[in-house]
Amino acid sequence: MDEANRIKQLKKERNAIILAHNYQRGDVQDIADFVGDSFGLSKSAVSSGADVIVFCGVDFMAESAAVLNPDKTVLMPELSAQCPMAAMITPESLKLEKNKYPDAAVVCYVNTPASVKAESDICCTSANAVKVVNALPEEEIIFVPDRNLALFVSARTKKKIIPWNGYCPTHHLILPGDILLEKEEHPRAEVLVHPECRPDVVALADKVLSTEGMLNYARQSNSKEFIIGTEVGLLHRLGKENPGKTFIPATRYAVCPNMKMNTLGGIVRALERNEHEIKVPENIRVKAKLSLDRMLEVGRGD
Ligand code: 13P
Ligand code: SF4
Repeated sequence: MDEANRIKQLKKERNAIILAHNYQRGDVQDIADFVGDSFGLSKSAVSSGADVIVFCGVDFMAESAAVLNPDKTVLMPELSAQCPMAAMITPESLKLEKNKYPDAAVVCYVNTPASVKAESDICCTSANAVKVVNALPEEEIIFVPDRNLALFVSARTKKKIIPWNGYCPTHHLILPGDILLEKEEHPRAEVLVHPECRPDVVALADKVLSTEGMLNYARQSNSKEFIIGTEVGLLHRLGKENPGKTFIPATRYAVCPNMKMNTLGGIVRALERNEHEIKVPENIRVKAKLSLDRMLEVGRGD
């Protein structure tokens, strides 16, 4: 039996679902029950009736699913699939920043460890960062850990944003020269970029959107060509869902090696051996859940 059929069989036996982020390998996306962005994945983790969730993404995503679903088994096929941006902040360093700005609220990007979510007032994703900031009563906001997303929000709100210095190494590989070169070759293409990109790349975009936001936009747009400034895994769904439209990666170098660690073989092993189970200490989980619940209440922005 091939791996895809074995996964089907194991899913039935264990009442399991497979959640996959839009940057996963194409074959992993194809066998998943739900493929989406960080916001959609958090929502579907809550609404599923499954006993077991196999999370094909990176560490903070599986951890969020475990925070939101204490009664379900959350499995991560590959433990070393870790987001380097999420590792650019610790609860201790955030506490020091909070002491410097006692009147500020803390908004944390979902790309953070649960221990940082527990120290924050509310989470956000790239799909609702501006909406979350504007929904808060505070006028001063400590925004962690993505500096680029913080600057993107800062340009779209009247509030004072205090950015952290984290960044996504994959999105930093997308350079203004890449966009300009592709625009020269495809003058009619619309440029869609992710807010994790550098500000000089964001400045060249027609639209700045989360990964799911890009999928929604491309579906309804009359344009036939798009230059895509995000991790190249998104091109799998873009191509599959939009026959007749062309998607050009801003650069082929924008690959997140961590997102690519999950394989069909890894998913089979995860379900057969019940590994690797993600558990969050209860004192952290309860506080982190408040931040995630508040974000889910605000809803999507794009
Ligand atoms: P979204 O899919 O939520 O836009 O996030 C991108 C990302 O980098 C996740 O790690
Ligand atoms: Fe982290 Fe960037 Fe990879 Fe997303 S694409 S998981 S932010 S390193």
